[in-house]
Amino acid sequence: MATLDLAGKTALVTGAASGIGRASALAFARAGADLVVCDLNEAGLEETAGMIRGLGRGVLARRVDVASREAMGAFAAEVHREREAVDVLMNNAGVGLGARFLETPLEDWEWILSINLWGVIHGCHFFIPPMVARGRGGHVVNVSSAAGYFATAQLAAYSTTKFAVFGLSEVLREELLPHGIGVTTVCPGLINTPIVATSRLRGRAASPGARQFAIDAYRRRNYGPERVAVNILKAVARNRAVAPISPEAWAMYLMKRFAPRLTARLNRALAARMERAMAASDAHASASSSGAALGS
Ligand SMILES: NC(=O)c1ccc[n+]([C@@H]2O[C@H](COP(=O)([O-])OP(=O)(O)OC[C@H]3O[C@@H](n4cnc5c(N)ncnc54)[C@H](O)[C@@H]3O)[C@@H](O)[C@H]2O)c1
Repeated sequence: MATLDLAGKTALVTGAASGIGRASALAFARAGADLVVCDLNEAGLEETAGMIRGLGRGVLARRVDVASREAMGAFAAEVHREREAVDVLMNNAGVGLGARFLETPLEDWEWILSINLWGVIHGCHFFIPPMVARGRGGHVVNVSSAAGYFATAQLAAYSTTKFAVFGLSEVLREELLPHGIGVTTVCPGLINTPIVATSRLRGRAASPGARQFAIDAYRRRNYGPERVAVNILKAVARNRAVAPISPEAWAMYLMKRFAPRLTARLNRALAARMERAMAASDAHASASSSGAALGS
């Protein structure tokens, strides 16, 4: 089985303060890499950096907003003062938005595009050219989503950003092939991280019951970011173009490719089921709160 030996190499992970980014940074460190990590969440990032140091690896940790061209440019300049190029670039930082198209204000479009798409473009723009110039290959990991090939109406803008990341990665894979740089698009599935709790929710999805329903569903699914990280390292070692991770991500990937009409029907059925479950969760939440009010 292919394993990754990153001794003497540098891996960069954006959004490394939490979830998949933190787990992947630690997995790269265990594979021997020194790390460059960034995030907006300084406290979480410092915890990650401490864990990396605990594994005996070097780490440069900076508070950087991936959506900011200036901040990413300055970050890249600092990183490249100490090393010619990074060996692994993982564009992972991302945010969630649960909203249908008709419920999505333009401000939300700008916000999510700036992080989930521009963040990846910035990472690629500032860190790939030095990899190419150095001429010793490398690997780019872009974190898309199962929502990057299986669009659901409830994730209109999120899905749009993840389809775009999927497409960008496919483009890069062709362009970077002659330079010995591999590109992997990661599509995790339902992974138990804080992203559901911190996602923006609009319209029907914005009720407290609906958010709790989503948090419970991810918790019950209980597929942790550490398992994602193990699979990401395997995908990099094998230079996989696309890496669906959890079984449901795989199922959606294969269905979309080989049975698109069935996929569309299933998609509608799943959406209807989710609507019913959210309504039930809301009804339960308001019954509990009116019960509490009567009791007070
Ligand atoms: N958890 C899932 O089920 C799931 C599924 C598919 C795809 N993903 C993708 O995986 C990636 C990681 O998500 P996660 O589940 O680990 O969530 P998470 O919330 O645990 O981690 C995301 C990290 O990105 C950081 N971040 C957000 N905006 C940033 C910005 N502007 N600049 C720098 N850092 C920023 C956050 O502070 C956080 O630490 C995201 O791109 C997400 O869309 C997650």
